[in-house]
Amino acid sequence: SPAVRRSMWTVEDVKRTLPSRDDHSHKGSHGKGLVIGGSLLMPGSAAMTSRAALRSGAGLIAIATEEGAVPSISPYVQEATFVERETMELSAYDGVAAGMGIGRGADARALVHHVVTHTKGPLLIDADGLYVLKDFLGKLEKREEPTILTPHPGEFAHLTGRSIKDVLLSPFSLAEAFARRYGVYLVLKGPSTIITAPDGEQRVDVTGNSGLAKGGSGDALAGILLTMLMQSESMLDGLSSGCVLHGHTADRVVQQGRSKVDLLATDVIEGLPGTFRTLS
Ligand code: APR
Ligand code: MG
Repeated sequence: SPAVRRSMWTVEDVKRTLPSRDDHSHKGSHGKGLVIGGSLLMPGSAAMTSRAALRSGAGLIAIATEEGAVPSISPYVQEATFVERETMELSAYDGVAAGMGIGRGADARALVHHVVTHTKGPLLIDADGLYVLKDFLGKLEKREEPTILTPHPGEFAHLTGRSIKDVLLSPFSLAEAFARRYGVYLVLKGPSTIITAPDGEQRVDVTGNSGLAKGGSGDALAGILLTMLMQSESMLDGLSSGCVLHGHTADRVVQQGRSKVDLLATDVIEGLPGTFRTLS
């Protein structure tokens, strides 16, 4: 029989595949990640991505942000360190997540170009990073380590030059064609999220609720995915599990006191401990 090319990924699959935490581990065992994000006007994005990565079990997180944004970010992520964008060592990390809250100007474009051409390890690009990436998408084909793009339908429309309506009508086929063409993992977000591998295999995550339709949810997801991509043996399994952890946590938090109206991305991040407790 032909291999299964599209399947649902559920909480049971997360339980089955989640890496266990070895009693003899040290912080280096769990991944050293770099978050390149945030700016004076959007400090929260980098704070949420970094905090979500740490709440998901990352060993170490460094943040490369605009210098003036450091005092607004650090109180929310005391465990993180900061590095300068001019001197950041892109190859010193097990994973890099870039683009959240960096803006869409020439500086952001130059930053993402530098990151795409110099990062040797796994690289996730989200939000504004996707917006400016459009001009040099071809560079992704040259990367040897995994590249992960996490667009919502508007960002995917921008990347593909299609309308949002087209994206919503044919998400599976457009995602597959894009992932194959550029050799990337594509996480196409929405009420259902489609995770596509470079070979075209697809997973569907149907967890989550409309409480996530709020600024910041995507930043939290990027942090969870950063940790998952540093820890998982299978990139497709890890990314799929990260999406389910995010959506399932939002569902649990809404059952346990929040509502879809008032749920915040930070509630989802602080709900991760409860989810991990039920998983192990
Ligand atoms: N049901 C389930 N999950 C949902 C739903 C829903 N109805 N709505 C959103 N989500 C999930 C998505 O699957 C994704 O994981 O919430 C997350 C939203 O991510 P983004 O769309 O990236 O949102 P975010 O970045 O937090 O905020 C929107 O994107 O368009 C830009 O600049 C714009 O600041 C804005 C930002
Ligand atoms: Mg987003």
